[in-house]
Amino acid sequence: MKILVVGGGGREHAIIRALKKSPDCGEIWCAPGNGGISYDAKCRNIPATDVKAMVAFAKEQAFDYVVVAQDDPLALGMVDALAEVGIPAFGPNAAAARIEASKVFSKNLMKKYGIPTADYETFDDPAKVMAYIRAKNKYPVVIKADGLALGKGVLICQNEAEAEAGVQEIMLDKKFGASGNHVVVEEFLTGPEVSVLSFCDGKTIKPMVSSMDHKRALDHDEGLNTGGMGTVAPNPCYTPELAAECMEKIFLPTVAAMEKEGCPFKGCLYFGLMMTTDGPKVIEYNCRFGDPETQVVLPLLESDLLKIMLATTNGTLAETEVKFSSGAAACVILASGGYPVAYEKGKEISGLTEGQLTDAGDVTVYHAGTAIQDGKLVTHGGRVLGVTATAPTLEEALRKAYAATDRISFDKMHKRTDIGARALAAMR
Ligand code: AMP
Ligand code: GLY
Repeated sequence: MKILVVGGGGREHAIIRALKKSPDCGEIWCAPGNGGISYDAKCRNIPATDVKAMVAFAKEQAFDYVVVAQDDPLALGMVDALAEVGIPAFGPNAAAARIEASKVFSKNLMKKYGIPTADYETFDDPAKVMAYIRAKNKYPVVIKADGLALGKGVLICQNEAEAEAGVQEIMLDKKFGASGNHVVVEEFLTGPEVSVLSFCDGKTIKPMVSSMDHKRALDHDEGLNTGGMGTVAPNPCYTPELAAECMEKIFLPTVAAMEKEGCPFKGCLYFGLMMTTDGPKVIEYNCRFGDPETQVVLPLLESDLLKIMLATTNGTLAETEVKFSSGAAACVILASGGYPVAYEKGKEISGLTEGQLTDAGDVTVYHAGTAIQDGKLVTHGGRVLGVTATAPTLEEALRKAYAATDRISFDKMHKRTDIGARALAAMR
């Protein structure tokens, strides 16, 4: 099969590497891709959000299958547009992508179908938001912009003044654009967070191995929120008992709810969960693979990813094997100094040959923000590389991943030194 993967980060690189293991995977392309991905796939510089140009390219190249990995093209209806020209694609249509693209939609869905989540109200009038928050007088309070906001549309406000500033930022200054026309105000939950990615074909759901993200920029979970500075899988907080409870109370009801609402979910449904003292609750849904969760989950997949993806599109997931190894994986992100605020690009990366370490064993370097300039591999984004190691135990995977990061360098490189520390502590 001739395949196109839409996107250009570490997640897409991990998807491409996993797809290439399939005997049915022939020529593979990535758009826009990046410098490091170009060692594994042919790249074409089309923005992932340019639905029209992407569909025209897919037609021109006669792709057999397109994997839409990024949230915004899914929300913009790229899967619908590809279907119109007869090209099957992995991922939800625009109606189903609302589960991530509109927090008002997803919160109302959970309320209607009794899926456990933080208590909330939705608003479109800034004055009413503050009246509600003042009346509740319970802090911290969480304010979320309705739409996609690059993972930054969530504010945790410690007091009234912070809430006022948050409402100003989201609803009046429109820091996240039209995403802030509506907001969700919800109760603050506490407990260990678990990410569970799952394959869905509209009716059947098969969860992947669980994982743990590290969202803050600095060690000890300090500093600003980022797209993710590292991940481990499996997540030791996610016991078999909790997995069974999530399946019964969250996963199956969500898939059934989407079908009942007339927008069955096909593709990868991501559950951002919090294990509270009242049981597991949904913090957020994403309509796609997580980044950098994918970089630890797919390396543990033993079954054929292409077969599974096709099964989600064709509605045959129930008969398709989804098997994970019993080992562990760890991914450490190497970022540009200053990320997630201001950082420089174009720094030469040393230590890699054709994007990978030599004699790396079970270590893979997934490229998030790299480019090739004058024949040299250089940094080209905030998150630059994700270094993933697999091993029989998490401890060994972390040791191997960190040892590998010591062999890679670029000017002002930043990494967290405590990825997996909380997971290891939870296992003791
Ligand atoms: P989201 O973009 O929805 O994943 O939110 C980003 C992060 O904010 C989550 O990973 C949580 O750590 C935190 N968060 C979101 N909603 C809540 C909540 N209701 N209570 C506590 N923390 C939250
Ligand atoms: N790592 C979190 C996300 O992909 O949304």
